[in-house]
Amino acid sequence: MLSDLLKTYLASTFSYYLKSHMFHWNVEGSDFGELHEFFSNIYEDAYSAVDPIAEYIRTQEEYAPGSLSRFQELSQIPDQTKIPRARLMLEELLADTQTMIDLSLEVFNTATQEGRQDIANFAADRQSQHGKYMWQMKSYLKEARA
Ligand SMILES: [Fe+2]
Repeated sequence: MLSDLLKTYLASTFSYYLKSHMFHWNVEGSDFGELHEFFSNIYEDAYSAVDPIAEYIRTQEEYAPGSLSRFQELSQIPDQTKIPRARLMLEELLADTQTMIDLSLEVFNTATQEGRQDIANFAADRQSQHGKYMWQMKSYLKEARA
């Protein structure tokens, strides 16, 4: 059902937002300035998706979840309570970004089936944004060519 899926999408987007913001705060190393900025672009983008998803849930005449305990039940993004090293932050966020792309595709397909092209369009835009950051994370992680 689209509204249930949107609740999972909301909780996952919020968890993804929070983790990337936490990485922005705590990243260390010689690439500090660049990664601090990079994580900031990612969390700002993810945060911008939170409110529209919650409001799409309301247009389905359902209530939007908004508590950390409920988000934890619903989210598909694993919680991170430690402070990983910079490279591990990128690897973890890359895997989480793939989860967000998979979820966006699921929302796109379900919304299309239910005639909600507005929500399908939104999910397609999210896929595109996450795809852009995925390319950038992969490029950070790739060994430089000699
Ligand atoms: Fe900041």
